[in-house]
Amino acid sequence: MIPIKSFSERRRRLAAQMQQGVAIVPTSPERVRSRDAHYPYRFDSYFYYLTGFGEPEALLVLVAGAAEGEPKQILFCRDKDTEREIWDGFRHGPEAAREAFGFDEAYSISRLDEMLPKLLADQPAVYCALGQDSAWDMRVTGWINRVREQARSGVTAPAAIHDSRLLLDEMRLFKSAEELQLMRRAAEISTGAHRRAMRATRAGLHEHEVEAELLHEFRRQGAQAPAYTPIVAGGANACVLHYIDNNAELKSGDLLLIDAGCELDGYAADITRTFPVNGKFSPAQKDVYQLVLAAQAAAIAAVRPGNPWNAPHDAALQVLAQGFIDLGLCQGSVDAVIQSEDYKRFYMHRTGHWLGLDVHDAGEYKLNGNWRSLQPGMTLTVEPGCYLRPADNVPEHFWNIGVRIEDDVAVTESGCEVLTAAATKTVLEIEQLMQGCHG
Ligand code: GLY
Ligand code: MN
Ligand code: MN
Repeated sequence: MIPIKSFSERRRRLAAQMQQGVAIVPTSPERVRSRDAHYPYRFDSYFYYLTGFGEPEALLVLVAGAAEGEPKQILFCRDKDTEREIWDGFRHGPEAAREAFGFDEAYSISRLDEMLPKLLADQPAVYCALGQDSAWDMRVTGWINRVREQARSGVTAPAAIHDSRLLLDEMRLFKSAEELQLMRRAAEISTGAHRRAMRATRAGLHEHEVEAELLHEFRRQGAQAPAYTPIVAGGANACVLHYIDNNAELKSGDLLLIDAGCELDGYAADITRTFPVNGKFSPAQKDVYQLVLAAQAAAIAAVRPGNPWNAPHDAALQVLAQGFIDLGLCQGSVDAVIQSEDYKRFYMHRTGHWLGLDVHDAGEYKLNGNWRSLQPGMTLTVEPGCYLRPADNVPEHFWNIGVRIEDDVAVTESGCEVLTAAATKTVLEIEQLMQGCHG
């Protein structure tokens, strides 16, 4: 768990950068799945990053530049409601939330329209995620208009609206020791789930039965949810990058690609492993697998402070392009294959993304038009792959081989830490682990 004081420290850091103005950060709404049934609730990542408060119908107001030097930290949240709590469970209510989460003030969410125009009066600027949710955009501009209506009384309305995400994305990009500790645990649970899925896999099962093993392990270990819909893709399905049907029968001789990670206290893990359904790689499968593994090793070696964001991708591409030539899938030199982008027939995605509260986490990849440099505290995935579809005129022994290998990596002072290193990965490890189950 992230200590409560860390959340208020983040609010102070945000306010210090704003200097003067009011930040408005609402959490996500509850969403209906069908009639009376809702999707499992997930808070907004920005709101949670600043508050640690997980209830729906809540909003943070941060007033920077207050006379005392400290920002004013205000929470709006649901009232206590003994009747509703019988049905839906505990809610803090403003007073208990203020106390427990370290706010200066807390009010009922029903008072937003009354209080926000007062809080925005004579403030130079508003910071919000304009464009993220049009209903909130309307609400914020409505509050600003309420302030404008008081112009003849000498009240001034905020003259500027800044995108709060520019500041918050940069803060979220650098993980604290506490965040890294949570991400290590999310990674540990997820690596355990992958091992469990590998052990359970055999021909004749369906993809959803393997998916069930993953979900079972996530929840058993206390993760709240999968961080994204798991991909459990046997055979040709592995070549569909966002395959989530997970309903086909697994066949001996096919590979199984699993892309799955849990979410723990808001933080995501994102792991892909690919292995043979029958526990033994065919020669062609092994060739492709070893190639992707070598590309991943080169990419991980390029994750170190000072290297540009693109260095791991470039390193992976060098290895993959050479491998595609060696396997007869591409012709010409490595440079030519990369220059012409011929490799994109078999490797069409990039090698990673930031990872954190969101699986594709917040943070710019370029600064002033250049790839930004990797720095300690950044966390990212490294996930090269190779997808060989019959439609791409590949030799028949390569048909429907789809391989991706994805690990989660934190940049350290001296290089990087692979958070998901415990997930079984080499050909030997995989075959040994599966032999123990099939033998
Ligand atoms: N699981 C989503 C991704 O790998 O980007
Ligand atoms: Mn990923
Ligand atoms: Mn993934």
